[in-house]
Amino acid sequence: MEQDTIIKLAYLVAAVLFIFGLKGLTHPRTAVRGNLLGALGMLVAVLATLVDQQLLQHAVGYWLIAIGLIIGAGIGVVLAVRIQMTAMPQLVALFNGFGGGASVLVAGAELITHNPAKEGVDATITSGLLAGLIGAVTFWGSLVAFAKLQEYKSFKKPFEYPARQPLNALLGLIVVGLLVLGAVYPAHAWWIYFLLVLVASVLGVTLVNPIGGADMPVVIALLNSYSGLAACATGFVLGNTVLIIAGSLVGASGLILTSIMCKAMNRSLAHVLFGVLEPSADMASADDVYAGKVKSTTADEVAMLYDTARRAVIVPGYGMAVAQAQHAVRELAQVLESRGIEVEYAIHPVAGRMPGHMNVLLAEAEVPYEQLKEPGDVNPGMAQTDVALVIGANDVVNPEARDNPQSPIAGMPIIEVDRARTVIVVKRSLSPGFAGIPNPLFAADNTLMYFGDGKKAIMDLVAALKE
Ligand code: TAP
Repeated sequence: MEQDTIIKLAYLVAAVLFIFGLKGLTHPRTAVRGNLLGALGMLVAVLATLVDQQLLQHAVGYWLIAIGLIIGAGIGVVLAVRIQMTAMPQLVALFNGFGGGASVLVAGAELITHNPAKEGVDATITSGLLAGLIGAVTFWGSLVAFAKLQEYKSFKKPFEYPARQPLNALLGLIVVGLLVLGAVYPAHAWWIYFLLVLVASVLGVTLVNPIGGADMPVVIALLNSYSGLAACATGFVLGNTVLIIAGSLVGASGLILTSIMCKAMNRSLAHVLFGVLEPSADMASADDVYAGKVKSTTADEVAMLYDTARRAVIVPGYGMAVAQAQHAVRELAQVLESRGIEVEYAIHPVAGRMPGHMNVLLAEAEVPYEQLKEPGDVNPGMAQTDVALVIGANDVVNPEARDNPQSPIAGMPIIEVDRARTVIVVKRSLSPGFAGIPNPLFAADNTLMYFGDGKKAIMDLVAALKE
């Protein structure tokens, strides 16, 4: 068999492995295998690309690739091993960004060293310009998303400057103009490319800067999709089939995830990208909401509440991830079930800081997947629930989203724990969640605040129940 055929076959095998890998990732039980299949596909793709003869035409030597691989793999391994589980979402945002950055560099290098215009391959120029545009937006947008997820102080609120929307529209027009210019004057593609990357970089920052609070999940999914689209466009520039396939898969799955997140937030994509979502100045302050109305409780009191309970719901949120309380939570559920109490976990699609965050943690603690319910399934039974225990969740149980049309999270579906007979909220203080707004649930008549670190609080509760 000729080498060219072998390489094409290897690309096909890699593509099939990617697809089976993605399929595996759709369920927690098959996720690990799916991940391995995807990684194997990538190994096959990289090896096949390395022996691909075309590589030599692209002015990239093997030694340079080896150095890149060693440095990149080294940094990747150190980051992946040392990262805290709670910082995973930031790392994913960075990886998205690096994907976009790599596309900018590769497509740019190709346009400069190869000047396809002189060789009459104009379609490559359009692909290259698109790779530069999407890649730069992804890179800078992801860096801003990283800073927001890391909760850096200066990024908590968007930078204020006049005429935000008109400026974005102007940048968008310049981008379109440059794309057209590149297609009409291919001989000038390289300087048009630099200009385009410059404008797209500013656009990446100005687009993601105003998005905050509860709408970040949509942005992260969208940036993920952009990184795939940029890689796909770079695949066209290089004429590399497997990069086109891998990029399309990432782009498409990212778009599907964006649509799922939009539905979960009850938002349109346009609303997320162009709406203003920060707390407005005339919103009730934490003092107005909480002063004199918050009641706190202890492990023993909560244990007594369960004495007469028949139905209980557990609502985990980001704080469960911070406290690493998933094992303690599973133990609590088992103790309750051993007393004949019906237990359900209510999982909000945007609870935590990354899609499926709660599902992953609870799967790690071997909580049966069937017990995890979506808000739509658990809300109808909330009025018949004796005890709803909220552990480290805040925004996803904030009744403001349902009751106050002026709230920045207005319209977002919530888990309606406030309709349960008694609500127990486990958290360390009255500080707000990611959206940065007070939560009237904590001051409601049927709510008791059980202050403390999530893991210790639940372990104390289990001990009290066993006594
Ligand atoms: P949040 O609203 O962010 O609230 C988390 C709560 O956990 C905080 O109020 C915090 O209160 C508490 N907490 C932190 N550490 C704790 C610990 N060790 N023990 C006990 N409690 C602890 O969480 P949520 O309800 O899961 O909502 C998620 C938010 O993040 C939404 O706004 C969502 O849009 C946003 N977001 C989601 C994603 C994805 S994809 N899921 C991505 C980006 C942003 P204390 O400090 O008082 O303890």
